[in-house]
Amino acid sequence: MSINMIFRVFFIFFIVKSSVIAGDHSHEMGREVYLRYCVGCHGENGDGKGRGARLLVVKPRDFRDGIFEYKSTPMGTLPTDEDLMRTIVRGIPGTAMPSYRLLPEQERQAVIDYIKTFSQRWERESPGSPVTIPSPPEFLGSLESIEKGRAIYSENGCAMCHGNNGDGRGVLRDTLKDKWGRPVRPRNFIRGIYEGGSSPEDIFRTLTTGIEGTPMPSYVHIPEQDRWHLVSYLLSLKRRQVE
Ligand code: HEC
Ligand code: HEC
Repeated sequence: MSINMIFRVFFIFFIVKSSVIAGDHSHEMGREVYLRYCVGCHGENGDGKGRGARLLVVKPRDFRDGIFEYKSTPMGTLPTDEDLMRTIVRGIPGTAMPSYRLLPEQERQAVIDYIKTFSQRWERESPGSPVTIPSPPEFLGSLESIEKGRAIYSENGCAMCHGNNGDGRGVLRDTLKDKWGRPVRPRNFIRGIYEGGSSPEDIFRTLTTGIEGTPMPSYVHIPEQDRWHLVSYLLSLKRRQVE
């Protein structure tokens, strides 16, 4: 074996070994972050039954199923890392899930990789392809668009769950359950708190993908323009706080 060859073998060995160490290191970091910040709600084995969970109305996610509600990918597929990152950075408004905006990027990524170890789906499947979110049209929020949205809302039966005026009191309200068998309430749009984010693009995304694990269906079949009219209508319902 030439010196050159020996050198190469050592070199490859060194690269492989250091990448294994880097992987271990990141797994260790993910675990540490998880145990420090997430375990109290999501539980040591990711089952969503941390100590604090009992007191919460909206229960922490059980990571063992690999089912996520707020994502850009179609029903039945895994979320992208960007989706999980968005949730962790922003938190889930209206629930106990806090924002981890202040956590260094590297730690956020490490904890994302760590929560994937709770479900084998992540070994078998790749994330779905994100739906396209076009930029909001000029007409968004105009009176005409709001009126069109109101009509589309009633034609598509949104009122059955969300109520005629969007207050969340539709006739099906008390019958709805999520995939984990827990009662789930249709969103009240008058409060204006959106778990999946309240920008027009966020709401457009939620309408397009639906909310997996809950009775909220995907409305990808509603033409794009009409989905924007729905966004105009929903945002117009938010009651201004007068105090
Ligand atoms: C105080 C309790 C609490 C803590 C602490 C907490 N979570 Fe959550 N988390 C929740 C709740 C509650 C939900 C479910 C919200 C819902 O169903 O709308 C949730 C949901 C999630 C989801 C699922 C989002 C989806 O699309 O379905 C992810 C991912 C998540 N948490 C990650 C984390 C990570 C990572 C940490 C730690 C850095 C963490 N959480 C810490 C309460 C918590
Ligand atoms: C079968 C009942 C049902 C129908 C029909 C339905 N929804 Fe929903 N929707 C729900 C439930 C339940 C939730 C709350 C899910 C949760 O909290 O996880 C929800 C949540 C939402 C959200 C909130 C997302 C967030 O970020 O908080 C929006 C927006 C929404 N629905 C819009 C609509 C529109 C528009 C229609 C009609 C085109 C519609 N829904 C039809 C049950 C329904």
